Amino acid sequence: MKKLLASLFAVALLVGCGQATSEGTPAAATEEPAATEATSGDAKTYNVGVAIYQFDDNFMTLYRNEVDSYFKTRGEKDGVTYNVTIVDGKNDMAEQSNQVDNFITQGMDVIILNLVQTSSADAIIDKVVAAGIPLVLINREPLGDDGDESYKGILDNPTVCYVGADARQSGTYQGEIIAELENHGDINGDGKVSYIMIEGDPENIDAQYRTEYSIKALKDAGIEVEQLDDQVGNWAQAKGQEIAANDLSQFGDKIEVIFCNNDAMALGAAAAITAAGRKVGEDIYLVGVDALDECVEMVNNGEMTGTVLNDANGQAHTAVDVAIDLLNGKAIENYYWVDYVKVTK
Ligand code: BGC
Repeated sequence: MKKLLASLFAVALLVGCGQATSEGTPAAATEEPAATEATSGDAKTYNVGVAIYQFDDNFMTLYRNEVDSYFKTRGEKDGVTYNVTIVDGKNDMAEQSNQVDNFITQGMDVIILNLVQTSSADAIIDKVVAAGIPLVLINREPLGDDGDESYKGILDNPTVCYVGADARQSGTYQGEIIAELENHGDINGDGKVSYIMIEGDPENIDAQYRTEYSIKALKDAGIEVEQLDDQVGNWAQAKGQEIAANDLSQFGDKIEVIFCNNDAMALGAAAAITAAGRKVGEDIYLVGVDALDECVEMVNNGEMTGTVLNDANGQAHTAVDVAIDLLNGKAIENYYWVDYVKVTK
């Protein structure tokens, strides 16, 4: 019945419906009924809701822009219109939960969700599944009870999946980048690598794994390590700069490596390194994750020791492709993984 009503309203709604919006507010009015699988002429139209944890995030900005543009590419190729509405969760789980409620009320045909908090995964999955809407989770992986890829809410629901990258791999690559240096990161020759760690949001498995596996890779290579500091920079450049600046003034030359869980914080750390009169590659090393364009350039000209490509395009394309498979009623996998790639000069 809902579907029938939806179809009746659909054409009228879609006439006024804009293309992809990157605004905080969905394009369609929140109280309107569903616009499901409407046909205008011969072309099918689908409404897609994309909820991002926070627009103010360098990496997720690349990711969401690519989702938007790749839906257009697929639309042209498939002869289908995808009305994409992208909303900003502003790093607030209550706000994001409301946005998902709005998507349900609007009768989105599929939802792509970058959770603010993975601890809320069950509550969100339950309501989206109950509404009969397929769901593609991205970037923030909810973990199963065993701390691995066996999240019940994903395994139990054939229309729910996760698209991401295994953060253990990125952490390992960060450690290897240092271990593979001629001096293995031990600049002052005291037999150990003294480092500071600047972490992303600690609720996020990417932050946990990168913190753990970067150091594990050094230890696995037989290198002794000394942690001088480990602080939360919440993925943010300004916070990365503040932490690095404080540590550089507190620990001075003792710091041989600055590990950042992402490139945004590494950009901040790089500014602090320059301000402290230190020089990457000579008296300190700096590694991040993401391979933002500006960081790849810095790796090339020696201002960063290395980074790890977190493939925003690859993940965005996979998320869109699987969302479209779901729209077409195709069977999907529970998990889709995109590889990280080590980036050095
Ligand atoms: C990226 C970070 C980003 C975070 C958002 C991570 O995979 O490396 O740059 O801030 O995702 O959840």
